Amino acid sequence: MRFDIAKSGSGLVYEIRNIVSVADKLKRSGIEVIWENIGDPVQKGEKIPGWMREVLVDLLKEDRTYGYSPTKGMDATREFLAERVNRRGKAQITPEDIIFFNGLGDAIARAYSAIRVDVRIIMPEPTYSTHLLAEVLHASFPPNTYRMNPYCDWSPDINELERKVKSHRAVVGILVINPDNPTGYVYPEETLRRIVEIARTYDLFLIFDETYQNIVYNGRNTVPLSDIIGDVPGISMKGISKEFPWPGSRCGWMEIYNADKDEIFARYIDVILTQKMSEVCSTTLPQMAIPRIMNHPEYQPYLNERIRHYEKLSNIAYRILKDLPYVMVNRTCGAFYMTVVFNEAILNSRQTLPIAQEDIRNYIEKLVAEPVEFDKRFVYYLLGATGICVIPLTSFFTDLPGFRMTLLDRDEAKFEQVVRMLAENIVAYVESSR
Ligand SMILES: Cc1ncc(COP(=O)(O)O)c(C=O)c1O
Repeated sequence: MRFDIAKSGSGLVYEIRNIVSVADKLKRSGIEVIWENIGDPVQKGEKIPGWMREVLVDLLKEDRTYGYSPTKGMDATREFLAERVNRRGKAQITPEDIIFFNGLGDAIARAYSAIRVDVRIIMPEPTYSTHLLAEVLHASFPPNTYRMNPYCDWSPDINELERKVKSHRAVVGILVINPDNPTGYVYPEETLRRIVEIARTYDLFLIFDETYQNIVYNGRNTVPLSDIIGDVPGISMKGISKEFPWPGSRCGWMEIYNADKDEIFARYIDVILTQKMSEVCSTTLPQMAIPRIMNHPEYQPYLNERIRHYEKLSNIAYRILKDLPYVMVNRTCGAFYMTVVFNEAILNSRQTLPIAQEDIRNYIEKLVAEPVEFDKRFVYYLLGATGICVIPLTSFFTDLPGFRMTLLDRDEAKFEQVVRMLAENIVAYVESSR
């Protein structure tokens, strides 16, 4: 090459996928990997029901399934989704306030790349990596965050949020992920209303990632942004990756609230749309499937059954881990992740787990010979010793050491066995340097 052609990255990596290359290497050496790294229900054994398959088979018989869709998305689907918001009787939107993307990952990338480089979105800490990576990439500076407190059920520090918004004028928007990934926290309505009030007071807009909005359990309740936003400008991000579940469809959408009430916000949405136009449109098939699947009489019972299953796994994991020494956990009440935090200063660089197979032990030792976060070191040893593949918590951009696992396994007995194995290995690892 006559020039260096690669752009310099932010130095940050998407660990949810990055760890796969390590796990794949172990797999090739004969280790059975237990994938706890990614929120893909299908990978964890979810069977797509027959009626859902039939909806898709019917769509495949129609020629228009194979064509481009309008840039914002299929008209009938946007009408259907707008009507679902309007039926709640709070916010009123039109189909024009909805824009489809190739998965929420795409929507997230577009949302941050359309913002001026010198303004920022404040986000939770820890946070779902795709938001943080996109925000940091747009600004080329470290993120602004408000902390989620693991000693208080993972609730956000709203005073910190307000303090930072007030003192840092470059912050123009607040990100909320509800229910949250990676913590599984479900925001009560009261907390959400306080955040909306902060946005109103300081003239900000809101981004609410509501991917998991309809996956709430253990008696908790929450409300969508559309119920409480009033006249504040905002975006709700929704999708079908988790809810249907169909992550391979790459289909998600933005619902835009109050663009007509704020000229600056309207211009920002226009930039997002203009960018989208150059790409023509998003995937057509899943958009066409949305009304047919959501309106299907089997849809809600199917979703309810899955929610009960996540609830069950959340309680199994909580029961096993809550009294374990060296870590703290909260009971997950939404989405399907559980985050385990190691007690302060409990980890060090001498701890190990026994790995019988020599080539694997050598590989893991090589990985941890380089300076790595203490929780990542634990994750590597856990993977080498047991095959369990979790994500280090620090890769969700927090100083708290820990890891995120999923509550997705369709096999309850296997799940319980994995959590017990996790618990034993946490204790063995921490005590190995005593
Ligand atoms: C909070 C959150 N937002 C967005 C996404 C991305 O979803 P999609 O598959 O639609 O890109 C995920 C995926 O895990 C997520 O957890």
